[in-house]
Amino acid sequence: MENKKQDTASALKDIISHAKEYGFVFPSSEIYDGLQAVYDYGQNGVELKNNLKTVWYKAMTMLNDNVVGLDAAIFMHPLTWKASGHVDSFNDPMIDNKDSKKRYRADTLLEERAAALEEEGKEAEAKALLQKMAKCLDAGDLEGVRQIIIDENIKCPVSNTANWTEVRQFNLMFSTQVGAVSEDASLIYLRPETAQGIFVNFLNVQKTGRMKVPFGIAQIGKAFRNEIVARNFIFRMREFEQMEMQFFVRPGTEMEWYSKWKETRMKFHLALGIPATSLKFHDHDKLAHYANAAVDIEYKFPFGFKEMEGIHSRTDFDLKAHQDLSRKKQQYFDPEINENYIPYVVETSVGADRLFLAILCNAYTEETVGEGDQEKQRVFLNFHPALAPVKVAVLPLVKKDGLAEKAQEITNSIKFAFNTTYDDGGAIGKRYTRQDLIGTPYCVVVDYQTMEDNTVTVRDRNTMTQERISIADLKEKIGYAVSMERIFEKLLS
Ligand code: GAP
Repeated sequence: MENKKQDTASALKDIISHAKEYGFVFPSSEIYDGLQAVYDYGQNGVELKNNLKTVWYKAMTMLNDNVVGLDAAIFMHPLTWKASGHVDSFNDPMIDNKDSKKRYRADTLLEERAAALEEEGKEAEAKALLQKMAKCLDAGDLEGVRQIIIDENIKCPVSNTANWTEVRQFNLMFSTQVGAVSEDASLIYLRPETAQGIFVNFLNVQKTGRMKVPFGIAQIGKAFRNEIVARNFIFRMREFEQMEMQFFVRPGTEMEWYSKWKETRMKFHLALGIPATSLKFHDHDKLAHYANAAVDIEYKFPFGFKEMEGIHSRTDFDLKAHQDLSRKKQQYFDPEINENYIPYVVETSVGADRLFLAILCNAYTEETVGEGDQEKQRVFLNFHPALAPVKVAVLPLVKKDGLAEKAQEITNSIKFAFNTTYDDGGAIGKRYTRQDLIGTPYCVVVDYQTMEDNTVTVRDRNTMTQERISIADLKEKIGYAVSMERIFEKLLS
């Protein structure tokens, strides 16, 4: 049996159409031709995404005695975003091509040029180009950035001309108005990251939870960014979900915690079944103004290794900025050293949608099965059983002779323990295929022997082998196989 993992750029197209055809991801408001960079999760997608969120949340809060949860609002006082620096500097440099009227991120155009140079073996040139760009961006020299684009003779892929506008900064925050009448209304932002909801609640949680530094606050929630260039399916969206954890530590100990969280987070992705060869760390060359260390965990998407999670040592930048602007002390009294201080923060931040895409890409498997005339292609989603949208499909071999009723009875006896589906439509082979395509790890088949000895066959999605087991053992055996505990055990080992 030949097993082929796709890793070319065209594989993304297959994944997008598979995701749509089998109820994982749909374009938003598709009947109106969709909304760019916004997607909806279908019946299987929502199950997979919820499983990913649950496993992340539990791994954070249940496996770490000193990490607790939070669910802060999307709307926050506008000064939050002044303090965090988002109002003044959450910008991307954009440039328009005057002929095609297409808009691009100026830095992306140059990064793509550098990647092309690298591919041609001109590494030194690529590095010099990126350094030149970084220097201009740091100095706020947007005309300089434009000049590099012109010097490099970068052309718009649509018009094939280099007829560029000037480079402008574009703030990525969405804003709206709060207030019943327009005169009273005030400008408010949709949060561009969930982290600030954690920072402004740091003392609430610390005091009411009697938390002692070091401790963490974990949160899952929507974030919104008006991305200039939105592409690669759910990789870069305008509305997306983040799973963030801020870990508050004593100043001076942050690098120790940074290393610890770096390793813990890598272990998490491995425990979900992503192979080590598809993951890597990427240290940031250029640190954000608030960070003293930063690394990305990159996944090998069909379009290359790209950021899935960021781990940042954010110093005391955010709490200090909130203290200064709100004039409310954000200090913690550390009884061990008898000192007041603003804690330093190590942040882990993973996009739920990017993790979803990584898990989907990793699971998508095409293989050739059978030999000679019997040879055929099969596609299945090789999800970790604990993440699969549906854990078990109960299938009566035929509908007659009481087999369907027996299969319904089994479904009803296990469906409250794990996500179970019942299917009696069509040939058994077709029903297996339907389950393979959505990644169901087990198919339980009720046949004539079941009616005699209360046993069923359990078919394994990956090996397609069958095992006969007693109905009485189903719940326990499948329960263990599909349990998130198996992931947590790996994290603790
Ligand atoms: N609080 C830190 C922060 O927001 P970030 O690197 O801008 O850092 C963290 O974002 C993670 O959020 C990314 O690693 C990515 O997984 C996800 N993310 C960011 N922008 C996204 C977008 N436009 N669409 C989907 N996911 C996104």
